[in-house]
Amino acid sequence: MMQAINMVIGANGGIGRALVSALAKQEPETQLIAIARSFERQPDWPANVTTKELDTADEASIRKLMESMQQQKLRVMRVFFTVGVLHGQRLSPEKKLEDISEPALAEYFRVNAIIPALWLKHLINVINADGACITCVSARVGSIADNQLGGWYGYRASKAALNQLVKTASIEYARRVKNTVLVSYQPGTVNTDLSKPFQGNVKSENLFDPDFAAQQLLSVTKNLHTPPHCHFLDWEGKAIPW
Ligand SMILES: NC(=O)c1ccc[n+]([C@@H]2O[C@H](COP(=O)([O-])OP(=O)(O)OC[C@H]3O[C@@H](n4cnc5c(N)ncnc54)[C@H](OP(=O)(O)O)[C@@H]3O)[C@@H](O)[C@H]2O)c1
Repeated sequence: MMQAINMVIGANGGIGRALVSALAKQEPETQLIAIARSFERQPDWPANVTTKELDTADEASIRKLMESMQQQKLRVMRVFFTVGVLHGQRLSPEKKLEDISEPALAEYFRVNAIIPALWLKHLINVINADGACITCVSARVGSIADNQLGGWYGYRASKAALNQLVKTASIEYARRVKNTVLVSYQPGTVNTDLSKPFQGNVKSENLFDPDFAAQQLLSVTKNLHTPPHCHFLDWEGKAIPW
């Protein structure tokens, strides 16, 4: 007998943590696997949550997890992928062309596009054939059509790459496990470590609490049925041009 479960990858981030709490409460009968590189403190989550620490960037670890899920006959219905980076010790969004650096670009692409691609590659083996939704938290700045401001070369381009990977994977998922919907999602500006240095110009009503962001994420992605197999949506459920 197959058991259908949910999954949050990046469960120690600001949005990821709030998402695990909200989803576990919203679907108390469904097991939820919360995955992170490490959990800084033991989260106070409901009993239907299982935490799993693994290197989310390591393909061998991803493959091992999927194999163990297959052995346990687990199938995923709702997957939320929240891993992403905007700034760090040696990483700062570029303001002008002269700020572009090869190592920084490589790091943006590694975290924001390559890691999710590895998960999309392996998730196909554990997806619930009767209906599933994989949501990758992207960003509006990844929209090529909507780019008015410029700047943030690495973050923008890596999120655009993520969007293309999600769109391309959705076509193959539709062929191989027909009822899967893939979503690239813009959560709005959310009060987490990722947005902290950039909140100065954001009006307080436009800076969302992670709990609110998690509720919106769950409700926008809840009743998506195929076709279409792929969406780029914002926190209000409005379509963003690719
Ligand atoms: N906050 C916003 O305003 C906003 C707006 C638009 C889009 N987003 C997107 O929302 C997603 C979640 O962001 P957040 O706001 O929750 O930020 P956050 O609190 O900084 O969380 C970032 C997540 O990414 C993981 N991560 C960061 N660097 C990594 C690396 N080098 N290798 C592996 N994992 C790494 C973190 O894992 P650990 O916990 O293990 O470090 C964490 O799960 C990101 O994709 C971000 O681009 C956020």
